[in-house]
Amino acid sequence: MLIINIKALVQVREKIQHPVSGDAMAILPTISNAWLLIQNDRIADYGTMDQCPVLDAEETIDVSGAFVLPAFVDSHTHLVFAQSREEEFVMKIKGASYADIAAKGGGILNSARKLQELTEDELFQRTLPRIAEIIKTGTGTVEIKSGYGLTTRDELKMLRVARRIGRETPLTVRTTFLGAHAVPQGIQKEDYIQSILEEMIPAVAAEKLADYIDVFCEDGFFTPTETETIIEAGKRFGMKPRIHANQLHRSGGVQVGVKTNALSVDHLENVGDEEIQLLKNSNVMPTALPGAAFFLGLPFPPARQMITEGLPVAIASDFNPGSSPSGNMPQMISLACIKMKMTPEEAINATTVNTAWSLELQDHVGSIGKGKLANLFITRPIPSLAYIPYAYGSNVVDRVILNGRLV
Ligand code: NIG
Ligand code: FE
Repeated sequence: MLIINIKALVQVREKIQHPVSGDAMAILPTISNAWLLIQNDRIADYGTMDQCPVLDAEETIDVSGAFVLPAFVDSHTHLVFAQSREEEFVMKIKGASYADIAAKGGGILNSARKLQELTEDELFQRTLPRIAEIIKTGTGTVEIKSGYGLTTRDELKMLRVARRIGRETPLTVRTTFLGAHAVPQGIQKEDYIQSILEEMIPAVAAEKLADYIDVFCEDGFFTPTETETIIEAGKRFGMKPRIHANQLHRSGGVQVGVKTNALSVDHLENVGDEEIQLLKNSNVMPTALPGAAFFLGLPFPPARQMITEGLPVAIASDFNPGSSPSGNMPQMISLACIKMKMTPEEAINATTVNTAWSLELQDHVGSIGKGKLANLFITRPIPSLAYIPYAYGSNVVDRVILNGRLV
């Protein structure tokens, strides 16, 4: 497939040696008036229209006026769940806090009860519409966490569904074991942690169901010490850490993330200078989830300050039924620009190359380069790149190509 008359081919990077950080985040390598050739599932070549080779490609698409970008890489989601939770949304509007709802058996435990009742196939079928939805807004790669099972059987069920999404849909999928998302009702926390360590982690590893391990490190959920214990156990079974850190409080999550050499620390609504300094002396990717900050009315992570201090920033959707019921990445970019004062270029780097880096997929997705997976989206004709976050709520994504095929 040959794509011609591309107004601008965006995020063109061949070899990626490090995440995009600090001042470099403002730079988005772009080729104006371009063509791009796809062979099989890969990007074969690209260039400027004045040097467009006369190729007899099986299919040529003329996209005059459109931008072509790499499909988004969403590095933090809880996409596999049984049911939405809009009744809690209404409770929150009327004044209940996230913690109030959790204390009443709502929140994560509510999602767990519903998920435990479903078969693996039912859960897969319930997830499919969400897959279609995120592909429409340009997502090509997604990280999916467990954490609504909270029993060995149900955590395995969730992860099997996540793996099946990777096999049976066009999405590229990475999976994360998040057994330590909440303590199920009627079980002592120590006993639950014991079952995570002795039962769940070995079972998940035996079936190779998770690439990563995550813990909800938060007051009222798991302490930094408990987080470290669980993370270290996961590491022994080959799962690298990525951590839910500093969402509701300055709970020490960033400290554990740095100490355990996590790939990323995600949320960061409640961080100060101490956490930022620690991150500067680490290889941990700070990941903001602006959808969750927006939906819960929390402070937004200090992305501007982190970039000024030379850090990279990644942005993911946190798609989940409780705190961010959307996986719309252009919308996340709008929130990043409007609420965190990131420029459109910075926000696009944060949702493509940097999220790909944190999933160790930078050589395959998140940028346009020869030999990389042909995961792209074509915008409708728009005046500029800044139009993407500017036109918030309007889908600028016209066509999506995943694995070299129009979806
Ligand atoms: O990332 N913070 C913890 N987990 C999810 C919310 C889960 C839920 O409410 O169902 C999050 O925001
Ligand atoms: Fe999350």
